[in-house]
Amino acid sequence: MQIKNSAVSMIIDAEDQKELEEIKLQFLGRSGKLTLAMKEIAKLPREKRPEIGQLANDIKHIIEETLENKLSTLNSQLSTRRKQSIDVTAPGIKPAIGHLHPMSQVLYDVVDVFKSIGFQAADGPEIEIDHYNFEVLNIPKDHPARDTQQTLYLDTRGSRVTPGEVILRTQTSAMQGRVMEKVKPPVRVIVPGKNFRYEQVDVSHGFEFWQVEGFMVDKNVRLTDLFGTIDYVLRKLMGNDVKLKFATTNFPFVEPGVDTYIQCAVCKGKGCSFCKQSGWSEIMPAGMIHPNVLKAVGYDSQKVSGFAFAIGLSRLVTLRYQMDDLRLLTNPDLRILEQF
Ligand code: DAH
Repeated sequence: MQIKNSAVSMIIDAEDQKELEEIKLQFLGRSGKLTLAMKEIAKLPREKRPEIGQLANDIKHIIEETLENKLSTLNSQLSTRRKQSIDVTAPGIKPAIGHLHPMSQVLYDVVDVFKSIGFQAADGPEIEIDHYNFEVLNIPKDHPARDTQQTLYLDTRGSRVTPGEVILRTQTSAMQGRVMEKVKPPVRVIVPGKNFRYEQVDVSHGFEFWQVEGFMVDKNVRLTDLFGTIDYVLRKLMGNDVKLKFATTNFPFVEPGVDTYIQCAVCKGKGCSFCKQSGWSEIMPAGMIHPNVLKAVGYDSQKVSGFAFAIGLSRLVTLRYQMDDLRLLTNPDLRILEQF
């Protein structure tokens, strides 16, 4: 009786579910007061046991029932309190919205500009064969230009592939052969993509880097068409007041070869570590496609001519956003990415 009274009054006074749980344990748990008392019944004289046993069972039921009732009262109180506390006029929590990586933003811009002047975008494999990365591009096995393309070779031991044939492409120019073999002139194609070289990583070099290769072949394509295209595209991408300069250079798959320099946006031409104190950044090597390349893809170099170029996309991004370290582009730190 005493157990019943104290349990019931404690249950009635309980303020939350946790307290109810504790009370339940205290009376009905394995070493709860009622449980222990019930064990004592066995020690009573036989004739007393049924009566006391019945009483103990009744008390157990009463405690259980009181617990249950109290629990449902507490629950319904809680839900009315919750309902009352919702302020439907309060402003919501803004979901965090992501955005395109600066690299993707610039890439989309580049593709748009070229599309507007009739170029189509193509995609190609990052794992490439020597044939397209070098041979078709007028770079035979013993050509010294191979030394400039720190090539990463795939380990093909155990397969039927000739050793040294399968590589990570070092230049998106590799797509020139793949596309031109399949498409007859006129062609105007750009190929955005990643390239890989065994390079020492520093502020302006990475072992993987993006390029947008482009080429155009048709009747009567001239060097001035190349200059006009570069000029137009870079103005669209970097603003009308960009300063450009061209210089001759050598790549085996073009003749003549042209290097395009853009005035360094980081230091505005004064010279800084990004442009190696020169005030200019090399951004777009290009040239007129070498007749040997045209022949290798089955074109008649007497009838058609063309130009090719590559935009250093990573460089374009760092110039546009005036980042002084190329490595920021592959850094997943949100504090950096949120700034673009
Ligand atoms: N593929 C060359 C490289 O990454 C860059 C290049 C130079 C591409 C001249 C061209 C070009 O299309 O005409 O080193």
